[in-house]
Amino acid sequence: MKLNIALLAGDGIGPEVIQQAVKVSEAIAKKFNHTINWMPALTGAAAIEAVGDPYPKETHDICLKSDAILFGAIGHPRFDNDPSAKIRPEQGLLKMRKDLGLFANVRPTFTFPSLIDKSPLKKERIEGTDLVFLRELTGGIYFGERGRKDNGNTAFDTCTYNRFEIERLAIKGFELAMKRSKKLCCVDKANVLESSRLWRETVQSLEKKYPEVDVSYEFVDAVAMRLVQWPNSYDVLITENLFGDILTDEASVISGSMGLMPSASVGSKTSLYEPIHGSYPQAAGKDIANPLATILSAAMMFEDTFNLKEESLLIRKVVDKSLEESIVTEDLSDGQKAYKTSEVGDWLVKKILE
Ligand code: IPM
Ligand code: MN
Repeated sequence: MKLNIALLAGDGIGPEVIQQAVKVSEAIAKKFNHTINWMPALTGAAAIEAVGDPYPKETHDICLKSDAILFGAIGHPRFDNDPSAKIRPEQGLLKMRKDLGLFANVRPTFTFPSLIDKSPLKKERIEGTDLVFLRELTGGIYFGERGRKDNGNTAFDTCTYNRFEIERLAIKGFELAMKRSKKLCCVDKANVLESSRLWRETVQSLEKKYPEVDVSYEFVDAVAMRLVQWPNSYDVLITENLFGDILTDEASVISGSMGLMPSASVGSKTSLYEPIHGSYPQAAGKDIANPLATILSAAMMFEDTFNLKEESLLIRKVVDKSLEESIVTEDLSDGQKAYKTSEVGDWLVKKILE
């Protein structure tokens, strides 16, 4: 099979972790007789530096031509510390999501048996956790009207959703629930927010189409608590953009490290695969970041976009093995030997080709 993959390394640790995912994907291609045509393109601060735009048209065209997009991370402290910056790397990510129609961000949270003691949470609470967040990705407060008034002394951001946006995300949630344990949780703040009340109303009206799915409605503050108390009680959760951003960072703690959790952003066109972590600028260029979230994102890509299940499974298998044998970067090394980002990549390649 010939796979056309747009490669967006981005900023910070992005290029380093992407490089490992490329190595691993190339090893898979070699083993299973595929050819990968990598199509690199600029995004984020790197793109601002080169062409003054965090998501240039050329990058968008490359994404549209590809079968799938593999993405590293976006963000640079130079912009974080300058609230007056007009052009920001994150705008590139948001534009990319919007222009590619990536309205659903699939963020699984699962535990690795060999890491169960590394989580700051108690083993008996997190054992067996296997849940998926479907985060709405192209609406809500991220894209609503914002601005300043009162001579700049008042600022506002608005959260807007329409029924169509909620419905298409919710349908994905119901469909995923049907393939899993038929349990769906709608996370909102319907006791306060009008947009949440529309979420609830819309999801409720879909219930009759999926009579087998057991739907619960929970407030986001309560979910934030129960997520670390009883993560096992959840299976598929659907929520709006900002709640999903916050809750999925929280959920990553269950697995033991933020450096482990992959994600897929899907919509009407090409899907994009990316780790849920950010650009971690303090670690950039040091070869110490955990590449597994990106490598597991590549595994999701092989399975979801290309329907290459065996390939995907092999990646997950060697990743499990690396964790069992403690071939891990410093975030997971617990005072023991820490391997470099590139060494973890090399080890996985060797195992795949064995
Ligand atoms: C994420 C990130 C982004 C988001 C940032 C970098 C804009 O935190 O993918 O979760 O908030 O969506
Ligand atoms: Mn985030």
